[in-house]
Amino acid sequence: MDLTSWVILPFLLGSVGIYGLLKLLQRLRSSAYIQDAVVVITGATSGLGKECAKVFYEAGAQVVLCGRNEEGLKDVIKQLCLIRGGAMKFHKPHMVIFDLSDVEAVASAAREILHLVGKVDILINNAGVSYRGAIVDTKLSVDRTIMDTNYFGPVALTKALLPSMIQKKGGHIVVISSVQGKISIPFRSAYSASKHATQAFFDCLRAEMVPHDIAVTVISPGYIQTNLSLNAVTEDGSRYGVMDKTTAEGRTPEEVAQIVLRAVGERSKDVLVAGPLPTLAVYLRVLAPKLFFSLMAARAKKERKFKDS
Ligand SMILES: NC(=O)c1ccc[n+]([C@@H]2O[C@H](COP(=O)([O-])OP(=O)(O)OC[C@H]3O[C@@H](n4cnc5c(N)ncnc54)[C@H](OP(=O)(O)O)[C@@H]3O)[C@@H](O)[C@H]2O)c1
Ligand SMILES: *[C@@H]1O[C@H](CO)[C@@H](O)[C@H](O)[C@H]1NC(C)=O
Repeated sequence: MDLTSWVILPFLLGSVGIYGLLKLLQRLRSSAYIQDAVVVITGATSGLGKECAKVFYEAGAQVVLCGRNEEGLKDVIKQLCLIRGGAMKFHKPHMVIFDLSDVEAVASAAREILHLVGKVDILINNAGVSYRGAIVDTKLSVDRTIMDTNYFGPVALTKALLPSMIQKKGGHIVVISSVQGKISIPFRSAYSASKHATQAFFDCLRAEMVPHDIAVTVISPGYIQTNLSLNAVTEDGSRYGVMDKTTAEGRTPEEVAQIVLRAVGERSKDVLVAGPLPTLAVYLRVLAPKLFFSLMAARAKKERKFKDS
């Protein structure tokens, strides 16, 4: 070996060692952050919310699961109680039943949560409903329904829990938005609008909460293999009931739940969980809007042809 190897090699090895050590410390810090934390998850009966319930429970959090469907929640809790963790001590899961689109119900649910577990460390606003339809054919009541569930629901729940977080001088608000909170694609108007509004609200909250040591994480996934498209609302308010190919070919909810767990542990601010094409689209919207708009116009034309045939 010449002199340069004698200098470079230890330097490289040292750097790798320090990097590994920092990563390990970060992992330990993340798991300490989640272990024993009270984590409230909305939409915990299915899809991503159900998987988040599992990963946070397994990480030692005290989970409070929310949804409208009591049977569904009981089922998830039953599944959690079957998990065995060796030396890990699990907290008994709780459930709170309410409809997020009913502001009064949200306020009383927040009181119920605080009564049940005393405090909330991490709130994961995950519940949501999708939409399919052309703007001209869509009743205004549908736009309102989507906004009530996807926007006013999380906003109301966050506002109801915020004073208790400020009082205990810390907390964490997480929201599951969507790639469609960053770009708007045709025939998803109400959904995309609700997610854009969500992004804006929680970006604002993040800045305002800095003095209170309350973190805000916005997560924007692309397609996930859940029942979201089946449960989507259409132009007249009826259920869409179709499993879209894009949804069926998306990421698994297990994979996305792991990403949520990591983002929360690291207190990330804004996380886009998407492949190269949607990521490119997000950048195009900002850097080359004309190109983005013509791509969307072409997409609308193609989808309309498909609908008319
Ligand atoms: N799947 C995707 O491709 C995708 C992509 C990007 C973002 N996301 C977002 O991920 C989140 C989770 O959706 P998912 O994909 O897991 O869909 P999902 O399987 O349809 O789950 C939606 C959850 O939201 C709950 N919910 C819906 N309306 C509600 C209401 N009015 N009050 C209370 N709870 C309500 C449902 O609970 P109950 O019906 O049991 O009450 C259910 O647990 C949503 O915010 C969605 O926008 C999904
Ligand atoms: C979709 O809904 C069906 C029927 O309600 C349920 O059995 C299944 O677990 C749901 N899928 C997901 C990914 O939540």
